[in-house]
Amino acid sequence: MNHQYSLEYARQLDQQDSLHSYREQFYAPYLNNKRAVYFLGNSLGLQPKNTQDEVMKIMEGWANFGVEGFFLGNDPWLHYHKQIIPLLTGIIGAKEEELVIMNHLTVNLHLLMISFYKPTKKRYKIICEAKAFPSDQYAFQSQVKYHGYDPADAIIEVYPKKGTDLITTQDIIDIIEQHKDSIALVLFSGVNYYTGQVFDIEAITKSAQDAGAYAGFDLAHAAGNIKLQLHDWNVDFACWCNYKYLNSGPGAIAGAFVHERHLDSESIPRLEGWWGNAASNRFKMESSYTSSHTAESWSMSTPPIMLLAAHKAALQVFAAAGFDKLLMKSNALSEYLFFVLNYINQPKEKFRIITPAKASERGAQVSISIHENARAVFETLMPLGIFADWREPNVIRIAPVPLYNSFEEIFIFADILRQLLND
Ligand SMILES: Cc1ncc(COP(=O)(O)O)c(C=O)c1O
Repeated sequence: MNHQYSLEYARQLDQQDSLHSYREQFYAPYLNNKRAVYFLGNSLGLQPKNTQDEVMKIMEGWANFGVEGFFLGNDPWLHYHKQIIPLLTGIIGAKEEELVIMNHLTVNLHLLMISFYKPTKKRYKIICEAKAFPSDQYAFQSQVKYHGYDPADAIIEVYPKKGTDLITTQDIIDIIEQHKDSIALVLFSGVNYYTGQVFDIEAITKSAQDAGAYAGFDLAHAAGNIKLQLHDWNVDFACWCNYKYLNSGPGAIAGAFVHERHLDSESIPRLEGWWGNAASNRFKMESSYTSSHTAESWSMSTPPIMLLAAHKAALQVFAAAGFDKLLMKSNALSEYLFFVLNYINQPKEKFRIITPAKASERGAQVSISIHENARAVFETLMPLGIFADWREPNVIRIAPVPLYNSFEEIFIFADILRQLLND
């Protein structure tokens, strides 16, 4: 597409965008009485305007019925999650029975590693990306130590080739081949939080399983951001948070996926609690556990219903907009962002875009490595109405999100950046 570097042109793109009005369905920060440009949906998605109503309904149920709210009212809490799971299947690419909404991301990562990281003397290694999000690194290290192994020996990180920023699929496959007799688990993110690079989940899964290992994914930056087909890709397990692209609020309840072939498998152990017990038996208070034959078996505790309500409200907005349409808009926004960034980055190069330009290798996030005065440039953005994000040593991350960002905002950001870098 032949783009133009002008405000009028960006506004024209917004006029042609059938999803443009969705931005009015979100609260956004204001600075100096003007709606700020919020490019932090990869960190905490904005609040949908229907969320407060959904949460209030739960408060009213609690006020009116007390504990009987689990069974009474329009949306009895006992089955509340059943309204949510169908809204997630298309976003995650999973069957209903493969999904569970529970806990928080790092907790779920640990619980799923209890099931899928079962090291033996021969097979005990975890293959992961170098510089995984720190919480994941701590989870890997503590799991390895918990089983009596040494993280320095058991955790194999895949690095980009020297002089490059990105890890290729072949880099990952080569390391898996190299360690193939000693790997227990391959655990990658779906989208790297720093570079915005999308990993080839299907190819990594196949390579891990060919080597006799399980393949699991942390989809914090992928869920609601890129097309996922976890069931068809044969992924063993995955988990994600819902506060980024899925707009379900700070500390939102998280999600997890277990492939259907593992749901009743004797060889996959799990930690259990009463909420994972089949709903038909849960209140019989028996000492024996009855599997629900779904991923819900991994849930343990009474779910936080108010958090479920916020999650449901956000997913209703996705359903109304249509996930495939959102993905198309996301790609169009990112293409325009690449165009304007490349436009302002000449004749003299002032920054390097780390994120791959190719649509299949990135989602909504673009990471920009600024050559000079990066921190000062970043700190000037917020007072000028641009909410962006900083990663050491010199990277500004920008996430134009299709539900509430516009082409105009991309132009405004680029033009501010141009002026700051030319000053
Ligand atoms: C890739 C990744 N993993 C783990 C976490 C930690 O998530 P939580 O605090 O919900 O456990 C985050 C948070 O941003 C993340 O981006």
